Amino acid sequence: MLVMDLSRISLSAVTGAGVGDLPEFNVPPADPIALAAQWISRAIEQGVREAGDFSLATADASGMPSNRYVLLKGFDDRGLLFVGQTVSRKGTDLAANPRAAASFYWQELRQQLHFAGPVAPVDPVESDALFDERPLASRAGAAASHQDGELTDENVLNAEVQRIVAAGRPIERPVRWTGYRLLPERIEFWQGGDNRLHRRLEYVKLGESWHWRRLQP
Ligand SMILES: Cc1cc2nc3c(=O)[nH]c(=O)nc-3n(C[C@H](O)[C@H](O)[C@H](O)COP(=O)(O)O)c2cc1C
Repeated sequence: MLVMDLSRISLSAVTGAGVGDLPEFNVPPADPIALAAQWISRAIEQGVREAGDFSLATADASGMPSNRYVLLKGFDDRGLLFVGQTVSRKGTDLAANPRAAASFYWQELRQQLHFAGPVAPVDPVESDALFDERPLASRAGAAASHQDGELTDENVLNAEVQRIVAAGRPIERPVRWTGYRLLPERIEFWQGGDNRLHRRLEYVKLGESWHWRRLQP
């Protein structure tokens, strides 16, 4: 039997310095999208490590969940923008079940930010622009890799990337590489508190309007 020593895992769930008292928990604003944008901007401005990385949870047609980290490429009232390949697990999940949940955790600020809602690929022109802004090596990598296909020989993949770079020709976006947008229908703002008395504020979109409630920790 495998025996692990987990005794040195800290008992305190959240350890960062925090951001002080936030008025939104006492007087929730009407628009959670603007508030979420404010939270994301603060995390970036305050130099939170990898502030733009979030876990993206999807589920396949049978309901089997999966999760991975992706990078935030944009956020506005159209939702969270990220990129990936349609042939990947997240891509096939989203084709079968076009809904996802996204979670940021900013340890330094003691904050979590959660989103859930429908996801759709962005239009090809926008995906082209997202692809073209990537560095050459990253575009070559995306062109060579079929995300989630079985890798039988790493050298073959690396040689293909080098061949594409050396060819010096414009690299077209593979059709399987796309931007996606998650349009939030649920947003939760979470601030770590002492003695696990965390503060939580949930918004749910009903029709065109947002409704909020505070949640127990
Ligand atoms: C911090 C971080 C950011 C990542 N960003 C992306 C991303 O923006 N898009 C992407 O497809 N994969 C990204 N990856 C790789 C994914 O975590 C994952 O390995 C890949 O998307 C395949 O996932 P899937 O098989 O669940 O679809 C990132 C990984 C890390 C650790």
